[in-house]
Amino acid sequence: MSAADSVRAAVAAVTDPELRRPIGDLDMVREISVDGAHARVAIVLTIVGCPAAARIESDVRTAAASVPGIAEVDVEVGVMTPSERKALTEKLRDGRPPRQMPFGPDSLTRVILVSSGKGGVGKSTVTANLAVALAAQGLSVGLVDADVHGFSIPGLLGIPAGTQPTRIDDLMLPPVAHGVKTISIGMFLRDGEAVVAWRGPMLHRTVQQFLTDVFFGDLDILLIDMPPGTGDIAISIGQLLPHAEVLVVTTPQAAASDVAIRSGLVARQTGQRVIGVVENMGALTLPDGTVVDLFGSGGGAAVASALSETQSVPLLASIPLSPALRTGGDEGVPVVLSAPGDAAAVAIRDLAASLATQGRGLAGRSLPMTLG
Ligand SMILES: Nc1ncnc2c1ncn2[C@@H]1O[C@H](COP(=O)(O)OP(=O)(O)O)[C@@H](O)[C@H]1O
Ligand SMILES: [Mg+2]
Repeated sequence: MSAADSVRAAVAAVTDPELRRPIGDLDMVREISVDGAHARVAIVLTIVGCPAAARIESDVRTAAASVPGIAEVDVEVGVMTPSERKALTEKLRDGRPPRQMPFGPDSLTRVILVSSGKGGVGKSTVTANLAVALAAQGLSVGLVDADVHGFSIPGLLGIPAGTQPTRIDDLMLPPVAHGVKTISIGMFLRDGEAVVAWRGPMLHRTVQQFLTDVFFGDLDILLIDMPPGTGDIAISIGQLLPHAEVLVVTTPQAAASDVAIRSGLVARQTGQRVIGVVENMGALTLPDGTVVDLFGSGGGAAVASALSETQSVPLLASIPLSPALRTGGDEGVPVVLSAPGDAAAVAIRDLAASLATQGRGLAGRSLPMTLG
């Protein structure tokens, strides 16, 4: 292999941080020449001012300089032509026509809705942590914040205000936080703008665009943080994703569990399958052994058993009250990363592990199996 070939191979392997593919596969590497110990490398990016540009440029420089014999590297960064960009978006869509929802029944991505009867039970906190824990276990994870009126996912994942998806023509690339590709209405609003007045059709269109125009790539799991209850958005998602699986979050309190049961039953009416119940804000054991059970106990088990009339629905996790879980959310670093030994973090990681090993329960659907 010539020196230029070695540099090309090293540069081609650099990953685009947004598209999460080697830039060689994305046709971003142009001319490469080597003169003694001096390499010149030309690459092209998708758009001018692409937020990932500085990172790609420095990764390319490091990759080229890592080739034995190369001491000096010049990187020239250009921009794709419209037709090159079109070829790229077509390649990324992998033959799928634009504006087609990639999460239909034949998709290999598991879609899991996290829902609850009422707000404030910790649904978003659990969803954000679960997503990060699944990504940390090596899965490719997407997160759609479908709580349009009460969005909180960007804050929970520490996505800075003002962060917007990068656009390549009509593809939107979701920001990646702690390994999770994330989209939320909060990324589209100007400071102080509100969505309070949005009604059914507008909400439906928003959720549909999140699922259709956002380029998540090949995901193992897509989590959806649902708004509380069974309003317009839950109905839209029921229509868009009738094959989705549902996790129902509740507190241990009897009053919370009654509404949680109702939300599970409504999800089931659209054909979605309730795969389990997560009890949150359970008893906290203090270092001196004192048990604080602010919200009582038994709610999770009660919901699981009430939803088990037609098919068995397990209580998959019981997450204790946890100051670290709360501060992790406030600070944008989920507790599974900021305090992995915390009891809530352990419970969420165990939940992630059990979901990751669980099959999709796809009776009648083809599984990604290879023989031999
Ligand atoms: N297990 C827990 N221990 C302590 N605080 C929690 C716990 N779960 C959630 N919280 C806190 O409760 C509040 C509501 O949580 P959130 O995830 O926003 O609920 P929801 O999405 O169901 O409305 C947040 O301030 C969050 O930090
Ligand atoms: Mg929420």
